[in-house]
Amino acid sequence: MNLQTPRGTKDILPEDQKYFKFIQEVIEKQAGINGYEKIETPIFEYQSLFVKGVGEDSDIVEKEMYEVKRLGEEKPKEKEKLILRPEYTAGVARAYIEHGMKSWPQPVQLYYFGPVFRYSRPQRGRLREFWQFGFELLGADDPATDAWMISLAYTICKSLHLTDCVILVNSIGCRSCRPTLKAALKDFFDKKKAILCEDCKRRLESNPFRVLDCKNKACQKIASQAPPLIDQLCIKCKNHFKQVLEFLDEAEIPYDLEPTLVRGLDYYTKTCFEVVLKSDLGRQNTLGGGGRYDELIRLYEGPNTPAVGMAFGIERIIDILKKQKVQIKKSEKPQIFIAQLGEEAKKKAVSLLDLLQSEGISARAALAKSALKSQLKMANKLDAAICIIIGQREVVDGTAIIRDMREGVQEVVEQEEVLDRIKRKLGMK
Ligand code: HAM
Repeated sequence: MNLQTPRGTKDILPEDQKYFKFIQEVIEKQAGINGYEKIETPIFEYQSLFVKGVGEDSDIVEKEMYEVKRLGEEKPKEKEKLILRPEYTAGVARAYIEHGMKSWPQPVQLYYFGPVFRYSRPQRGRLREFWQFGFELLGADDPATDAWMISLAYTICKSLHLTDCVILVNSIGCRSCRPTLKAALKDFFDKKKAILCEDCKRRLESNPFRVLDCKNKACQKIASQAPPLIDQLCIKCKNHFKQVLEFLDEAEIPYDLEPTLVRGLDYYTKTCFEVVLKSDLGRQNTLGGGGRYDELIRLYEGPNTPAVGMAFGIERIIDILKKQKVQIKKSEKPQIFIAQLGEEAKKKAVSLLDLLQSEGISARAALAKSALKSQLKMANKLDAAICIIIGQREVVDGTAIIRDMREGVQEVVEQEEVLDRIKRKLGMK
């Protein structure tokens, strides 16, 4: 039996939950302010959805998908093959079609927060199960919506105290100018073919954009000298991109133009962007990315629906928060701690715990501990504001000691009056 988490996966221990909670709170707040509603899609979906949407020669489809099969199941038919979702966008596009969201008020604005799965060689910042949050705006093609998405990325980074980030933007054109862009890239890379990695040599024929996105150092060096994509854009795409940048300038959203930026997923058109860390986090320094995907829903035979979106990797953000020693509030500390001495007192403590908690007061006790000293030590450790002590004498008298841990004073009250007294002390009355 193997008692370790599978390679590339992690337990999210209580000490890390506060980061998840913090990020989730920021995302929910921004979603609320900006009018995004939550969607959760299945953790597994049909494989064909991703093959078609993310692209047959993308890293994800070529080598990173986890197949889902029932034990003992015979080989499933091609169209019934299931995989663990490697990202959310394809599932959201599927849901848009399946639930007839075209008839909802447009644009439809959705956000998500959950785990995704990609097979890769695990290293810092690269996991096989990791969490993403993301935003999708479906049913609008105005360049202002691209800028709005990028500005949301900027606001989220600021709210998450990610001060060391830069947003890289580019445009990769549309269906009509893509062949020109591809030809220019192929022409350029053909001359350097000998230096490219084996994957890129192959991809150069099928999709030269992929070479720009290769993780191999030698390929990256050549890619950085490739002709800027925006020089080859059609007039429509050029105008669209110009307007996106004007909106960003107007809103004073800082960004860097990155003329060879492409994304590793095929569904993108026009604007694409990435949020990267200025200082190095190994090579996995992309915190988030996204862009426009005007063709995806039509590719799935849905209605013509231009869309734009983005997603961020949560573990990578947590890594940075830790590295930058950003102080995150711990989960709520108990207001009340109840200490008890003796069996009768323990019974009283249990019913008092129940009473306080049913009134919405956060209360704790150490029922498995019998020594008063160790219970009070725990109350201190938990940083409880008030400690209620019921000893043998208090059981006989029908009283309890209420000790204010902040002021160091204590008083004795009748047990029936404890709730009332606590409420007053907590300012609830
Ligand atoms: P992506 O760039 O593939 O885009 O992933 C988004 C983020 O997920 C990355 O920027 C990175 O932070 C994180 N990430 C990716 N792979 C790993 C990994 N192996 N381990 C840890 N974190 C990782 C998408 O997924 C698109 N669906 C984004 C989008 C939404 N485009 C439009 N709408």
